[in-house]
Amino acid sequence: MHKRTSQTMRLSKFISLALAAMLASCAQPATDPTTIPVSGEMVAELTSPPIVPAPVGSRKATKLKVEMEIVEKEAEMADGVRYIYWTFGGSVPGKFIRTRIGDEVAFTLKNHPDNKLPHNIDLHAVTGPGGGATSSFVAPGHQITFSFKTLNPGLYVYHCATAPVGMHIANGMYGLILVEPEGGLPKVDREYYIMQGDFYTKGENGQPGLQPFDMAKAIDEDADYVVFNGRVGSLTGDNAITANVGETVRLFVGNGGPNLVSSFHVIGEIFDKVHIEGGSVINENVQTTLIPAGGAAIVEFKVEVPGTFILVDHSIFRAFNKGALGMLKVQGEENKTVYSGKQQEGIYHPEGGTIQKMPGEAPAARKASSVAERIEFGKQVYSKTCFACHQPDGQGIPSAFPPLANSDYLNADVKRAIKIVIEGKTGEIIVNGKKYNSVMTAQALTDEEIANVLTYVYHSWGNNKTVVTPKMVARVRSGH
Ligand code: CU
Repeated sequence: MHKRTSQTMRLSKFISLALAAMLASCAQPATDPTTIPVSGEMVAELTSPPIVPAPVGSRKATKLKVEMEIVEKEAEMADGVRYIYWTFGGSVPGKFIRTRIGDEVAFTLKNHPDNKLPHNIDLHAVTGPGGGATSSFVAPGHQITFSFKTLNPGLYVYHCATAPVGMHIANGMYGLILVEPEGGLPKVDREYYIMQGDFYTKGENGQPGLQPFDMAKAIDEDADYVVFNGRVGSLTGDNAITANVGETVRLFVGNGGPNLVSSFHVIGEIFDKVHIEGGSVINENVQTTLIPAGGAAIVEFKVEVPGTFILVDHSIFRAFNKGALGMLKVQGEENKTVYSGKQQEGIYHPEGGTIQKMPGEAPAARKASSVAERIEFGKQVYSKTCFACHQPDGQGIPSAFPPLANSDYLNADVKRAIKIVIEGKTGEIIVNGKKYNSVMTAQALTDEEIANVLTYVYHSWGNNKTVVTPKMVARVRSGH
């Protein structure tokens, strides 16, 4: 009797537990991602930037095999500047990993036998000690495997976490892993992978040759290079990312740091949607989104007009002086309603429409009686009018204002030079083999002053010693 009762009780307890489990699984199929079942297995497609793997779409959670090889290699940081990068998969950032919520990722980390150092990996998408780092320390010529289940959808950074951690990250050991939600992200026409990083080299920015890592600068957060995808120019010119008018673009943007926070911006576009910090909150109509070091964002926008759209860290000296500049080239039909392009251009004279002729008769202008005097007076004009852009020694400012020193453009054509001083200049020019595309305003100078300043410039910094007279200026001014 006693025995039967306890058996019955055990049976009824089993049934009620089983029922409770069934009810729980029916009522809340996806709230506990640890219980998402996996079916089958597949090898993950891994891609180098700016390419991303195919979307997960509607596939079920699976056992996903990721094989990542660590490669230490020398490559170009900028034209003529070499650097020894430490990489996940041979690129900076490392290979893009694309998963979905509930996947069981079997992660194998291989450290190439030619490498010098041990490494590991901390994936921010991992729930567990060190994000995997405690289980993945691997010496050259070895490999390790660990596994994890993706519990939270979002875009996550991964990085090496071997001491000195900052140095491993500074050498390029970071990348992105995407965990898509159930059913996948909404479909878009184009997806790209972009990751910012700051670099610290013994030589200053642009100093050629193989540049070692500079620990002191890294600690001071005094970056020589701030770049997208590991090097200056990774996304410019022929390397630009592309789209066609009318398409939707999604950028998976990460920031490896190690130090700097990115103010990510696309010049001439507005982000229709931003998955803030790579998470589930979506902001709309955003101009610039902040991407923390060790963080990410997903930005989406539709391209409505053709042109080149510049990707920058809007901490703007980083973009124009340290490399954090990329390009999205959009082809297709113009839409003049959305953007007209330049409709009219003219010379703007606040004092009136006609150019005032002051051939040496202005009271303030001293007339030079010799070439030496012309040079002397010209130097004064230069120091008031020209030096801010062209710099005290005529060296100009790289990528902004062309040099006047040793200038092939200047020495080739004195009439052109006079005309530019009188009328100003816009549009692209090439000086000493380098392109410049800035604006020089028309200078309100007398013929005498223009003759003086140009004579000074032509007699300085290796130029061809042309003497410019007020008569020559007057002739150009009158269109002859
Ligand atoms: Cu490492």
